[in-house]
Amino acid sequence: MSSAEANPAARTVAESQSEMTEIILPNDTNTLGNLLGGRLMHFIDLTGAMAAYRHSRTHVVTAAMDHIDFIRPVHLGDLLTLKSSVNRAFSTSMEVGVKVWAENTQTATIAHVASAYLVFVAIDQQGRRQKVPQVLPETPDQLRRFEGALRRREHREAEAAHRREAQLATASQSDGQ
Ligand SMILES: CC(C)(COP(=O)(O)OP(=O)(O)OC[C@H]1O[C@@H](n2cnc3c(N)ncnc32)[C@H](O)[C@@H]1OP(=O)(O)O)[C@@H](O)C(=O)NCCC(=O)NCCS
Repeated sequence: MSSAEANPAARTVAESQSEMTEIILPNDTNTLGNLLGGRLMHFIDLTGAMAAYRHSRTHVVTAAMDHIDFIRPVHLGDLLTLKSSVNRAFSTSMEVGVKVWAENTQTATIAHVASAYLVFVAIDQQGRRQKVPQVLPETPDQLRRFEGALRRREHREAEAAHRREAQLATASQSDGQ
């Protein structure tokens, strides 16, 4: 842990909200001309990191990306818009939500294509974890996401504990063989 013991002053969600727009090119697509899932995850990671950088003003690493549903395909030539905001900060970690829309440039139709939650951890140049500012939710939606973030963190911790137990059980079974 860093020498900075107290969390820096709290920041509003609006201070770090971020947005990115990309045009989908042939290099981003599969053989059907649809955006590759991995490429979409890359865009989500980048847009999420932008909000985490702006909130923490430190280096950040992605600790986790939650389950993603690819709701509908994104086509070659679509404009992809991603928006991110920090839902809640804990001690050294932040949950960031990213929502993604695709716009058909010919018809002007805009559709929601994916959403994801990511956890970023603040670190310094030497990789030591850093305290992050708390989040000040200001609107009903921000307050809902702030409260949801605590439940999701508890759920992630419970899942991690479950995975550790399963790994220990597998290890002890192979020791006994
Ligand atoms: C993320 C990382 C820094 C956490 O280090 P660690 O020693 O496990 O840290 P700790 O267990 O002390 O946890 C530190 C914080 O990260 C959170 N965290 C760690 N692993 C997590 C996970 N898998 N999911 C969600 N949060 C996680 C903890 O809840 C804690 O948050 P808090 O300080 O706000 O309470 C470390 O695992 C790492 O460097 N991973 C590789 C990151 C990376 O390379 N990402 C891809 C490229 S950016």
